[in-house]
Amino acid sequence: MRILIISSPHSAPLRSIVGTARPRRGYNSGSIILPAMLRMTQTLAQPAAHSAPAGTTPVAELRALRKIYYKPDGSVMVEALRGIDVTINRGEYVAIMGASGSGKSTLMNVLGCLDRPTDGLYLLDGRDVAAMSDDDLSNYRGLKIGFIFQAFNLIPQLTIEENVATPLFYQRVPRAERIERAIETLGKVGLGDRLGHRPRELSGGQQQRVAIARALVTRPVVLMADEPTGNLDSSTGQAILNLFEELHSSGMTILMVTHDPVVAERCLRVVRLKDGLIEYDRQQPGYRGRKTASSDLANLGVSDAVRSPAQSH
Ligand SMILES: Nc1ncnc2c1ncn2[C@@H]1O[C@H](COP(=O)(O)OP(=O)(O)OP(=O)(O)O)[C@@H](O)[C@H]1O
Ligand SMILES: [Mg+2]
Repeated sequence: MRILIISSPHSAPLRSIVGTARPRRGYNSGSIILPAMLRMTQTLAQPAAHSAPAGTTPVAELRALRKIYYKPDGSVMVEALRGIDVTINRGEYVAIMGASGSGKSTLMNVLGCLDRPTDGLYLLDGRDVAAMSDDDLSNYRGLKIGFIFQAFNLIPQLTIEENVATPLFYQRVPRAERIERAIETLGKVGLGDRLGHRPRELSGGQQQRVAIARALVTRPVVLMADEPTGNLDSSTGQAILNLFEELHSSGMTILMVTHDPVVAERCLRVVRLKDGLIEYDRQQPGYRGRKTASSDLANLGVSDAVRSPAQSH
């Protein structure tokens, strides 16, 4: 069973779970092509503290971006994004906020290349994603973006190292190296003593750490997450936020959807949506993430994981 799943690179459900599904296209595609779980997408992204100082190199640039969901007859159902202009720079830590239905998940799915905009420009790490074929975009996304889902989306039949190794299958990494990198990354998030376990044997917070490791194992440029603490109790959610802060302090660019002001308070910048438009976009004066190097997660070696030249592309 496990072999069957891992060896099915075109399995839409699996590619959706690990964030490598082809982007949605066409009429009302969101409700037809990809499973509903992608609406709860959370992403993660990447790295490269070695290439440029934080705040100077765009990772994601959106210009006049719109997303319209159409009915099967071609008429407009919902204009979910109505003209988004935003630039996310390398090394930023951004919360995307807004009321239910304001377009947060739609925006995250476009940023994560799980869905294509109806029109407007999206440059991901300098490349116009609109110009790419679905296969090229899927591969490019796999290199650049790591996703974290609210519901973890781990594969129950697989061990945690097999779960973490799964995205590397799509990058044609040999199995032995896949498992080696998965074990290394699980060690970075503090789960090195849980190898061989299956997700159901772990707590919610530990499962989310597995999901974070799965996002990091591909050495992405940006980490994206849609409500990554939404299924966790408060203290477990705080531990995950501590890990994000460690990743950010190590140079990772992080984009996170949250409806929780307490969570957003811990981000460097907040972009708030209202009815498909940006209501405001501001830096957080009270940001304290970079002061948390002494947190209980500081000894996980995440900095090494992010900065290791071996992880760069
Ligand atoms: N696949 C779809 N087809 C049609 N309409 C959609 C689709 N996905 C989202 N919408 C609509 O687009 C708008 C924005 O939805 P979105 O899921 O982005 O909101 P959200 O801000 O993430 O909300 P929540 O906080 O409840 O998750 C809503 O009106 C929603 O009903
Ligand atoms: Mg949502």
